[in-house]
Formats: sequence, C-alpha cells, structure tokens
Amino acid sequence: MILGERIRLRAIERDDIPTFVRWFNDPEVRQYLLMYEPMSRAKEERWFEAQLEARNDLLFGIEARAGDGWVHIGNIGLHRIDWKNRNAVLGIIIGEKGYWGQGYGTDAVRTMLRFAFAELGLQRVELEVFDYNPRAQRCYEKAGFRREGTRRQGHYHNGRFHDVHLMAALSDEFRSGEEGRG
Ligand SMILES: CC(C)(COP(=O)(O)OP(=O)(O)OC[C@H]1O[C@@H](n2cnc3c(N)ncnc32)[C@H](O)[C@@H]1OP(=O)(O)O)[C@@H](O)C(=O)NCCC(=O)NCCS
Repeated sequence: MILGERIRLRAIERDDIPTFVRWFNDPEVRQYLLMYEPMSRAKEERWFEAQLEARNDLLFGIEARAGDGWVHIGNIGLHRIDWKNRNAVLGIIIGEKGYWGQGYGTDAVRTMLRFAFAELGLQRVELEVFDYNPRAQRCYEKAGFRREGTRRQGHYHNGRFHDVHLMAALSDEFRSGEEGRG
C-alpha cells in the first residue's frame, strides 16, 4: 500500500475488472478520457493480462476511507515510463462520481507524484487534459502541475474541436511545494 492523507493506493486485481468496465462505460466519465467507445469485458480482460507484463506502466487502485473500511473509487497510473530520461505520463480516473470534487483526486495525484519522485527517481511527470475539464485542471494545479502549452484543437468531441493542455510536474518544484505545505 502507498498511503496518502485520506486515500491509499493499492495493486489492481483481476476481480476489479467488472468495476473498470462499469466506470469506462459511463459516458459522463468517459468524455474526459482518450477512450471513446464502450468497453467490453473481454477487451478489459485482455488489457489486464498485458498490464501484468508491462514494465513501463504502473497502475494502482485508489481507495478512500469509508467508516472502518476502504472503498475503491478509482485508478491512477504512471504510463510510458522512460527510465533513461526519467519521465512518465500520469493518468487518473475516479469512476465513482459521488466522490468527485472532495479532494480525493488531488490527494491521489500528490501521493503518486511523491512515489514517482521519491521512490522511482523520476524527474518529470506530464499529462494532457481537455479544455472542457476544469475540475481536472484545478486538481492537477493543486497537486503541483503547471501548464506548459496547448495543442490547439487537438481533440474532437461532441461535434467540435477542443484544445488540449499539456501540464507537467517536476521533481524539485514538487518537493519545494510540499515543504511549503508543511
Ligand atoms: C479529474 C479528477 C481526477 C479530479 O479529482 P477530484 O477528486 O474530483 O478533484 P479535487 O476535488 O481534488 O479537486 C477539484 C478542484 O476543481 C474544482 N472544480 C470542480 N469543478 C470545477 C469547475 N467546473 N470549474 C473549475 N473548478 C472546478 C474544485 O472546486 C476543486 O478545487 P478547490 O479545491 O480549489 O475548490 C476526477 O474528478 C475524475 O476522475 N473525473 C473523471 C475522469 C477525469 O476527468 N480524469 C482526468 C482526465 S485528464
């Protein structure tokens, strides 16, 4: 387990597959992801098997405290880890929508960045976010990401083109931000 403030990150299991399929098949969730077609259980199972072998991808379940126990609310991952240049791409989804907007995402992203920088020795973690996802942008800013640029009209959704913002967090900046937070 990797502990955050109000969340913990754990390994994902084969038993989680039906939950992932439910999340990815929710259009309200999927609109913010690169994935654009409904997800079948068979495809998700194939993806899971590949994930077990992947050396340059790390994926964790996000669990939030609920009473005396924990509830699985989403996933967070580091993808395309480039061990030579020490960077990776971050992806996150809180599939349980009732947990949106309560600080769990920021906690999970900070926890993942701490792990990426302090345990894996990465220097840079980056991501892309659609212009119609201000909640995610704000979450990333709070966790220590900065906007670096925009791929103008790089994404087509719901009948029109949208800008895609590139954001990144650097190890040193993240560390000084954490010290600032006490
Ligand atoms: C994006 C996501 C991970 C963020 O996690 P979260 O727990 O909902 O986010 P947090 O509560 O930590 O932070 C959200 C911030 O955005 C703010 N926010 C919410 N809706 C907003 C809006 N429409 N405009 C501007 N800010 C908004 C919140 O007020 C909060 O900021 P604050 O603490 O300063 O008030 C989660 O909402 C999610 O998984 N969404 C669906 C999938 C997705 O978008 N994944 C990311 C793809 S790049």
